[in-house]
Amino acid sequence: MCGVIGYVGAGASPSFFLNALRRLEYRGYDSAGIAMLTADGVAIQRAEGKLSQLERKLDQLPAKAKVGIGHTRWATHGKPTENNAHPHRSGPIVLLHNGIIENYRQLKERLVARGYQFLSETDTEVAAHLLHDEYKKLTSGTPEARMRSALRSVVGQLKGAFAFGILCLDTPEVLYSAKLGSPLVVGQAEGETFMASGITALVEHTRQFMVVEDHEIVVLKPESVEIETFDGQPVTRPFQRVEWSVAMMEKGGYRHFMLKEIHEHPIAIAQTLNGRVQRDSGTINLTDLGVAKLPLKTLSRLQIIACGTSYYAACLSKYFIEATARIPVEVDLASEYRYRASTVDSKTLVVAVSQSGETADTLQAIKAARANGAQTLAVVNVPGSTIAHMCHAESLTKAGPEIGVASTKAFAAQLTALYLLGLALAQERQSLNDAQLRFYVDELVKIPSLVERSLGLSDSIERLANRYHHLSSLLFIGRGPQWPIALEGSLKLKELSYIHAEAYAAGELKHGPIALIDENMHVVCLAPRDAYYEKTLSNIEEIKARGGRILAVGQENDSQLLQLADDFIGIPECSETVLPFVTAVPLHLLAYWIAVRKGTDVDQPRNLAKSVTVE
Ligand code: G6P
Repeated sequence: MCGVIGYVGAGASPSFFLNALRRLEYRGYDSAGIAMLTADGVAIQRAEGKLSQLERKLDQLPAKAKVGIGHTRWATHGKPTENNAHPHRSGPIVLLHNGIIENYRQLKERLVARGYQFLSETDTEVAAHLLHDEYKKLTSGTPEARMRSALRSVVGQLKGAFAFGILCLDTPEVLYSAKLGSPLVVGQAEGETFMASGITALVEHTRQFMVVEDHEIVVLKPESVEIETFDGQPVTRPFQRVEWSVAMMEKGGYRHFMLKEIHEHPIAIAQTLNGRVQRDSGTINLTDLGVAKLPLKTLSRLQIIACGTSYYAACLSKYFIEATARIPVEVDLASEYRYRASTVDSKTLVVAVSQSGETADTLQAIKAARANGAQTLAVVNVPGSTIAHMCHAESLTKAGPEIGVASTKAFAAQLTALYLLGLALAQERQSLNDAQLRFYVDELVKIPSLVERSLGLSDSIERLANRYHHLSSLLFIGRGPQWPIALEGSLKLKELSYIHAEAYAAGELKHGPIALIDENMHVVCLAPRDAYYEKTLSNIEEIKARGGRILAVGQENDSQLLQLADDFIGIPECSETVLPFVTAVPLHLLAYWIAVRKGTDVDQPRNLAKSVTVE
């Protein structure tokens, strides 16, 4: 989805803006633009397509500017053309926007009647003209006071979601923004201030960040950040230090961010466990996990809501949490949850799981749950994200920045955080005795090294991909916790390689999908030695009997499975608790290598966005 950046300070070059936009590329976009304000006026360059197109035009921008804004656009209203790319100008106002202005048609009619000419098909251009119109109406006060007042009037007239970046030629050292529904952070360094859709855009320049909340207007100057509410009340909020580094956002020698991030599964799990499991006592540290203030003892049930890969992490955690904490767990797609008749009460804990912490479906669902009286917990990866702000409590997954659009290491970290939540509940509700709790704590601690061994499969899976990249369809099956892993594996394959893939609980095979099986159907069968092993083997036999081709994932010494399979991925021996973490890795690698073999854009698959801020 769109990304915005802004700068005010001693001077930034065109490449500053381009590089900051590059850090937001992962959000997904199809055109881009930059505006730089100097004593000679404003220079705007925009381009259709990837940032490399905009890069070709950088020499037409001034060498330095004290104020500037940049944008990556993910088209909603109007095609991804140069003309529709942001920023848009109206008189002295230059504006760009992440979000959607829902009432733009009515506003446009009014503005056309007042003589404004529209040059684009976007909803955003309405905001530029409207702001200009309100600014023009004000005849007294300094230009900055008039801008603030005009902006307050504009935000009162807009319906939808927005995070703006705004320049005014009459106030050459000020940058303005307003936020409702779309993410926005501001950063501060020596004599410079910044704004952006996410901290990744700015980590190179500062670690001091402040999250802007809904219904707030921000005025940035080189030495100050002023925030006020839409009705003009000043807001004071301290800056927070974020420990993300530039190195964490580079490829580190890997061919793609995704391959690097798959290789970061172990560290993502280890960091998420760190400080939260107390090995000596065999207990969970509730404060470090971020759940100490929740009424864990008196809860009657959990509802976990999420989208995409996060949803599959949630589905998987249900097995573990129900088994350990002995509490009912429902898992819902956020986009569906929101429109169901709510049955939550103060004894329901609704857990929002989201890598980005910005997904609109999840955000709206958790808002609704909170409004209906539920306790809420955010399990998010991006510190200070909107979903985290919305919830009673926040449990960070510590995967570090995830740049590849398709989520991988964040999945492992989410699973870890949700397993920890299960153990925290078990500890508080005494559904496990001390020895059982210690057993699980010890199991979790083993996960990073077992997952590390699973990464050793990368080369053999790369070779295997040569036999799979030409397929037009694949089926994935698994039972118990391996079913959500099958779902995750098939999602990853679809996202990255555009090969049609479906996943079924292996027990469901006979209720329909078995009709698909013939000698052309390849089935990825997750069959590690767990409680469901024998039953899954029977399903594999059924597929074989109908000529289907088997790619089996099971323990490396499983000769029975090896014999049944056409292709075999052998994972290290491990306990049932650890298994899903270990089987997820080869499926992520399989999708990755098939996509590489097909030559698709692995880090930015077509049509997808990392942070989906529309419903
Ligand atoms: C998008 C991404 C998926 C991701 C989903 C949920 O659709 O392409 O990879 O799983 O959003 O994102 P979240 O940030 O809420 O985990």
